[in-house]
Amino acid sequence: MAGENKQTSVLVVDDDQVHRYMLCSMLTDWGYRTIEADDGSTAVTAVENHSYDAVLMDIRMARMDGHEAFLRIQAIAPALPVILMTAYSTVESAVETIQQGAHDYLTKPLDFDRLRLALERAVDHHQVVSQKQQVKKNKPDLETRLIGSSPPMMDLLEMISYVAPTEATVLISGESGTGKELVAEALHVNSERGNKPFVKVNCAALAESLLESELFGHERGAFTGAETRREGKFVQADGGTLFLDEIGETSKAMQVKLLRVLQEHELQRVGGEETVRVDVRIIAATNRDLEEEVKKNHFREDLYYRLNVVMIVVPPLRERGDDIGELVTYFAGKFAEKNRRDFEGITAECMDLLNSYPWPGNVRELENAIERGIILMRGMELTEKSLPLTIQKQIEKLTKQTDNQPVSLFEAEKQLILKTLDKTSGNKSEASRRLGITPKTLLNKLKKYGEM
Ligand SMILES: Nc1ncnc2c1ncn2[C@@H]1O[C@H](COP(=O)(O)OP(=O)(O)OP(=O)(O)O)[C@@H](O)[C@H]1O
Ligand SMILES: [Mg+2]
Repeated sequence: MAGENKQTSVLVVDDDQVHRYMLCSMLTDWGYRTIEADDGSTAVTAVENHSYDAVLMDIRMARMDGHEAFLRIQAIAPALPVILMTAYSTVESAVETIQQGAHDYLTKPLDFDRLRLALERAVDHHQVVSQKQQVKKNKPDLETRLIGSSPPMMDLLEMISYVAPTEATVLISGESGTGKELVAEALHVNSERGNKPFVKVNCAALAESLLESELFGHERGAFTGAETRREGKFVQADGGTLFLDEIGETSKAMQVKLLRVLQEHELQRVGGEETVRVDVRIIAATNRDLEEEVKKNHFREDLYYRLNVVMIVVPPLRERGDDIGELVTYFAGKFAEKNRRDFEGITAECMDLLNSYPWPGNVRELENAIERGIILMRGMELTEKSLPLTIQKQIEKLTKQTDNQPVSLFEAEKQLILKTLDKTSGNKSEASRRLGITPKTLLNKLKKYGEM
């Protein structure tokens, strides 16, 4: 049991001294090491300077409330689980904080069995995440380039570590700006071909005739302007990996030619007869739904199956909420250094906004927003004022939502239940356990919401 491990440390944050002492002595009895903080800002400083396994924090505190403290803690230590304690009057704030990634919340007066269970879960969760981060540390190339430790990102990294060392052709799909090219690089770097060339071709950037000679090379005199023989990207990538970006944009005629190289491992230069053998691993990427393109007869089925030996789907940023804090910290540091700006941190409001924005342009959009933010930053703190207008507009949307639809206790409870079901992948008995209600009550509530 987690609590028996003397090393397991919990930061207990409450401005009510008596309540704090009571919690600490109970947690100590359960075998935890406790550290106290008497308000939100002390807690933030503690997290900046030490590492803990979990945080147990009151929502309502005089100096910096639990919600703001949570956002700051999340920006510093995204994987650290935070459990909030809330009275009914602040339950909305707790639900909001859960939606922003807090681990759990408990209502006061506290049910001590639930508290004990919640702590054990939080600590277990933290240990799993830390172990996974350890795995990442052992793969320096993956770690330094691909930021993020949300569950979808961990799955992606795991997939890369399985597939990279093989010779399999890989099809990477995902929305624009999600990091497909970085994934392709990670696959190459972590393969046996890692110290051989990694050659990229953007299939959408060239007219068909140019793309053909770009890929396969051409003989002298093959067309006007072809004064010498030129080797193509396939030959340049010999022994290594060829990354065919935006493969969905190629013409049917080009698809036939690509299929042939994939099958025979040989090609002919444009305007030539000679057969050239190549040893190239192919990684292709697309932001189209290629299966759909096949159905519409825009993409050859045989080529699709050749490419899609392994499919890696890069999830959109909006499904990787937990990564936003980590990415922001990474990009802010990177651009502060590049632009020689002093950067001390990001305001809670700004982080709030970044967390609530849907990021249609994914990581690329976030990266650009932070670069702009750092350049236009007035002081040493990044605020929403230096973010692009499209993102700032999100504030208006959020305020409108809260104006028009005041969140009732009913709504707050519904949101929490649906969120918990989401977190447990729809497992109702696990969700009811986490919520501290019987499965029957859960079913009744779901019926009431019309969710069943
Ligand atoms: N997980 C990540 N960690 C750090 N940087 C990332 C991550 N994912 C993407 N980026 C950065 O975001 C930008 C966009 O990534 P990339 O070019 O790989 O996306 P893409 O999916 O190929 O986009 P497109 O479909 O538009 O070509 C790049 O600058 C990349 O370095
Ligand atoms: Mg790309």
